[in-house]
Amino acid sequence: MNKAESQTSTTAKKTAAAPLRTPTDLKPAATKDIAVAMNGVLADVFALYFKTKNFHWHMSGPHFRVYHVMLDEQAAELYAMTDPVAERIRKLGGSTLRSIGHIGRLQSIKDNDSEFVSPSDMLGELCDDNKAMVTSLREAHSVCEKHDDIATTSLIENYIDQTEERTWFLFEASRPQDEAGH
Ligand SMILES: [Fe+2]
Repeated sequence: MNKAESQTSTTAKKTAAAPLRTPTDLKPAATKDIAVAMNGVLADVFALYFKTKNFHWHMSGPHFRVYHVMLDEQAAELYAMTDPVAERIRKLGGSTLRSIGHIGRLQSIKDNDSEFVSPSDMLGELCDDNKAMVTSLREAHSVCEKHDDIATTSLIENYIDQTEERTWFLFEASRPQDEAGH
């Protein structure tokens, strides 16, 4: 076997041993760190997406339409994060989420299965969850920055802005009415 054939054979063996390890210039430890951080973020995005839809479906009260529509917009924004985040992990040779059970094992955002949640509690809880998500995104950003993973940090920066905006909207919408009805 000549040198070129030998190299091809070695590459084929490596590929067979790690069929999902996409070629990357990042070290395996970097891929692992980033995948752990981003899979945690992804699990929380799915958990928060579902909770936002849950509250969209079970909203009640005089502000029903405004809150119902706002939560639908926020859920759509969260859902739009899922594919780019999962594919960033795959592009770096990591593996990503495979099931609802996998989400459940990794999510840090708590589910809310209560029979009834008041509108103000819904907005307050989502506001806290989005705020916690900003913290997780900042932590994931630090991990990616440490490994010079510019593309993931750039993606995360936009998501931090969107998550801070959702937090702001939820905070303002949940302020109690003043005496003038504003
Ligand atoms: Fe809907």
